[in-house]
Amino acid sequence: MKRLEDKTALITGAARGIGYSFAEAYVREGARVAIGDINIARAREAAEGLGEAAIAVEMDVTDQASIDRAVAGTVAEFGHIDILVNNAALFTAAPIVEITREDYQRVFDINVAGVLFTMQAVAKHMIERGKGGKIINMASQAGRRGEPLVAVYCATKAAVISLTQSAGLNLIEHGINVNAIAPGVVDGEHWDGVDAFFAKYEGKAPGQKKKEVGGAVPYGRMGKPEDLTGMAVFLASPEADYIVAQCYNVDGGQWMS
Ligand SMILES: NC(=O)c1ccc[n+]([C@@H]2O[C@H](COP(=O)([O-])OP(=O)(O)OC[C@H]3O[C@@H](n4cnc5c(N)ncnc54)[C@H](O)[C@@H]3O)[C@@H](O)[C@H]2O)c1
Repeated sequence: MKRLEDKTALITGAARGIGYSFAEAYVREGARVAIGDINIARAREAAEGLGEAAIAVEMDVTDQASIDRAVAGTVAEFGHIDILVNNAALFTAAPIVEITREDYQRVFDINVAGVLFTMQAVAKHMIERGKGGKIINMASQAGRRGEPLVAVYCATKAAVISLTQSAGLNLIEHGINVNAIAPGVVDGEHWDGVDAFFAKYEGKAPGQKKKEVGGAVPYGRMGKPEDLTGMAVFLASPEADYIVAQCYNVDGGQWMS
């Protein structure tokens, strides 16, 4: 028996990267998956690659009407939602004295408000349906401690850990498990952007920051999206029914908590 047989999932920001890898793993484990992304062309490509079990749903997590449409569209297609993965997020970096209100607002809107209000919309559906569910929020090692050039992103990920705790404690009475995953450094297009920020602020050659962070991971290399799928499947499965309001580090040994 596949571990997510007959389950349905909505994964935000799943057109590429870690979210796409989760979609692939969920389909492999028997789930039907809605790939919710602001980049609908890429989401469609991703869904086509995964076959009949996947659909693409246009979704901007900063826009309440868009969240509501994406949730309603997924329910219309699949009948219900068992699993939500709040994965969409943006990275930003700047020294404290260069942070702008605009960038702060933009990143908090996606990384924090996007998580909270997508979680709320799906939780309402799950409560109404009365069969519980699983919600997984993507945190980060960046939420465990601050970093000199990454104040805003780190603060958003600390907020995701805190929201996971409060929502986890609030929603478990409805049989909804809310937990989080804190990756370390995971290679892909996201980290190409991170590398470019450090090239700018630390005067590094392109690719140098990636090499440094990969070498510093106790496991010996940067993570790959597939390194995280085991935890994502586990937390979405009935094996995790008794796990409430936790945040798991899946980071090659970077952080201990
Ligand atoms: N890559 C890493 O090293 C790393 C480390 C720790 C945590 N994380 C977290 O894991 C998650 C996935 O990271 P990734 O590396 O795959 O990122 P990514 O940048 O590759 O993918 C993010 C996806 O989100 C989508 N998106 C952006 N804004 C959106 C919006 N407003 N509404 C809906 N979708 C939107 C993008 O189109 C993209 O498909 C993020 O929450 C990230 O913060 C990543």
